[in-house]
Amino acid sequence: MFRKLALSTVAALGLASGAMAAGNEGHVEDYSFSFEGPFGAFDQNQLQRGLQIYTEVCSACHGLKFVPLRTLGDEGGPGLPEDQVRAYAAQNFTVYDAELDDDRPAIPADHFPANTGVGAPDLSLMAKARAGFHGPYGTGINQMLHGIGGPEYIASILTGYTGETKEEAGTTFYENHAFPGGWIAMAPPLAGEDVEFADGHSNELHHEAQDIAAFLMWTAEPKMMDRKHAGFLGVLFLTLLSVLLYLTNKRIWRPIKHKHD
Ligand code: HEC
Repeated sequence: MFRKLALSTVAALGLASGAMAAGNEGHVEDYSFSFEGPFGAFDQNQLQRGLQIYTEVCSACHGLKFVPLRTLGDEGGPGLPEDQVRAYAAQNFTVYDAELDDDRPAIPADHFPANTGVGAPDLSLMAKARAGFHGPYGTGINQMLHGIGGPEYIASILTGYTGETKEEAGTTFYENHAFPGGWIAMAPPLAGEDVEFADGHSNELHHEAQDIAAFLMWTAEPKMMDRKHAGFLGVLFLTLLSVLLYLTNKRIWRPIKHKHD
């Protein structure tokens, strides 16, 4: 409701600010995700596809060190059956075990490993660490309409490459519309058709980008569904309470208001 009320104000401010707000911010596309809105929910199949993309592509450079592998079995998350979580952990990751003083296959109790090899940032919390929508005038007011835009930012980075490159101090930079400043040190990780999905879902670049972005939203906020649920119950409870208090109030004052009848 608040979002609707705010609409006209924001539209007016947006028109007033126009080009000035654009600055050097990257361009972030406003994708629509299943988990948006007060009743939105993660799409379990999409999270599983995102997990596959992370595993086959992104994990080569990026860690997810804050995410426990066992949460892949969570109801509100990818929801893998327990045996699949165990197999996934063991097949894809090895961790250093201090007790054994050796590496061993990962188990569900471990976290996804960190990966600092090429200086790529950990992606566990990236969807909440970056805002996609900043305006107008950098006030962030339009975040009320679009959300903070973390997953949109990630999907936009993955699809925002122009193909131009430049060398600077021995590092190659890739031109990218969505990255602030316009040049990123990450080579385009996805080109489309990078992974094959078992369910035959489209692996076109835009779809892959949204799938991995949704998965990273889940890693950043695995309890989002619970939070929305609790919020809804809270509002429902407060509404009922207001009605009861109103009726009680009427009743208490009735003898006084009707004294001279
Ligand atoms: C070959 C290594 C490599 C692969 C594979 C890779 N990245 Fe990156 N990524 C990097 C590096 C290096 C950076 C830091 C770039 C910079 O700061 O200029 C980065 C940065 C990022 C950022 C942060 C941008 C920011 O705002 O700081 C995101 C998001 C990201 N990668 C997502 C992904 C996703 C999603 C995948 C898988 C589809 C992926 N990366 C695959 C190397 C990689």
